[in-house]
Amino acid sequence: MTDTVLPPMSLLAELTHRCPLQCPYCSNPLALEPRATELATDEWISVLDQAAEMGVLQVHFSGGEPMSRPDLPALVRHAVGLGLYTNLITSGVLLNATTFPVLVEAGLDHVQLSFQDIDTANAEHVGGMKGAQARKLEAARLVVCEGMPLTLNFVIYRENAERVPQMLEAAVAMGARRVEIAHTQYYGWGLVNRAALMPTAEQLEMTTRAVDAAREKYAGTLTIDYVTPDYYADRPKPCMGGWGRRFINITPSGRVLPCHAAETIPNVAFPNVREGMLADIWRDSPLFNMFRGTDWMPEPCRSCDEREKDWGGCRCQALALAGNAAVTDPVCALAPDHDKVVEAISSLPAEPPPFRYRRYARAMDEVG
Ligand code: SF4
Ligand code: FES
Repeated sequence: MTDTVLPPMSLLAELTHRCPLQCPYCSNPLALEPRATELATDEWISVLDQAAEMGVLQVHFSGGEPMSRPDLPALVRHAVGLGLYTNLITSGVLLNATTFPVLVEAGLDHVQLSFQDIDTANAEHVGGMKGAQARKLEAARLVVCEGMPLTLNFVIYRENAERVPQMLEAAVAMGARRVEIAHTQYYGWGLVNRAALMPTAEQLEMTTRAVDAAREKYAGTLTIDYVTPDYYADRPKPCMGGWGRRFINITPSGRVLPCHAAETIPNVAFPNVREGMLADIWRDSPLFNMFRGTDWMPEPCRSCDEREKDWGGCRCQALALAGNAAVTDPVCALAPDHDKVVEAISSLPAEPPPFRYRRYARAMDEVG
């Protein structure tokens, strides 16, 4: 590794795309990777070894639903043995009194549990799974009873934005130490459903006020992370903390990516852990060097004082909105393509259209 390329801090291990839920804002790719192509246990073990060797500090086991993989406890145990901090990002529907103690015994450090809503009927309508909410509440109870730190993730969209105060109350009642109130982002299936998901400006103001009030009310009890839809901002987020700077993402079949949506970028080879070493891919691959640092930047980023703060925003959003991943994120008010964002907001229908679901019955059969 050269002096100029520091190692990543976190590894996102997407163990599988299989999932019992089918959220219409899913940021996984439109074409999911089938079970037959998933990395085997020994291949994930090798990935973890290489990550620790590179200096990675944290591993986030994610999906799809990572608890669909029977080898999850073995992978957690191995990561813990390497000194990695382990986080499980789960829907919670497979976390129960049988499956959770095995993960505790393996040394899991943290659970991040997602909710589609605090209203049961809507949550189960959105996730497409009857009985899911009760399973999630039980999962939260088990994690807190174990004394393991729990972060809740409430996904916010047009239909549930008004219920943010109840979500925050529920987070306190569940004993979570941290909660994310996270508006959906518009990648993958989330982009397909953008008109149904995106809140109005009034709703955004309302959720911001609710978060501000709760921060005051629950100070010292609950930490609240608030993620807004950056379409309403005039500067973009520093997506992934900058391309190829802090995060490394591995898909179920072993593709190594700088972010979860990078596979949308055309005309570039996606490196795979089956064909190369992680450290070499991180440092040398054309994909990771494509937008690393500031040399790739066009104007207005190139001469902007913000360029090492937001790193020009999100490459995948630039591609989705402007058709070119190498331009300034259109969310930025200085971007030549900013009108695309203005138009997306101004063309929001008065009534949100019905969600479009991805239907993957076979994948659901497989998760059991
Ligand atoms: Fe960020 Fe580029 Fe906008 Fe400057 S011009 S604020 S670097 S996106
Ligand atoms: Fe790919 Fe932002 S999601 S750079």
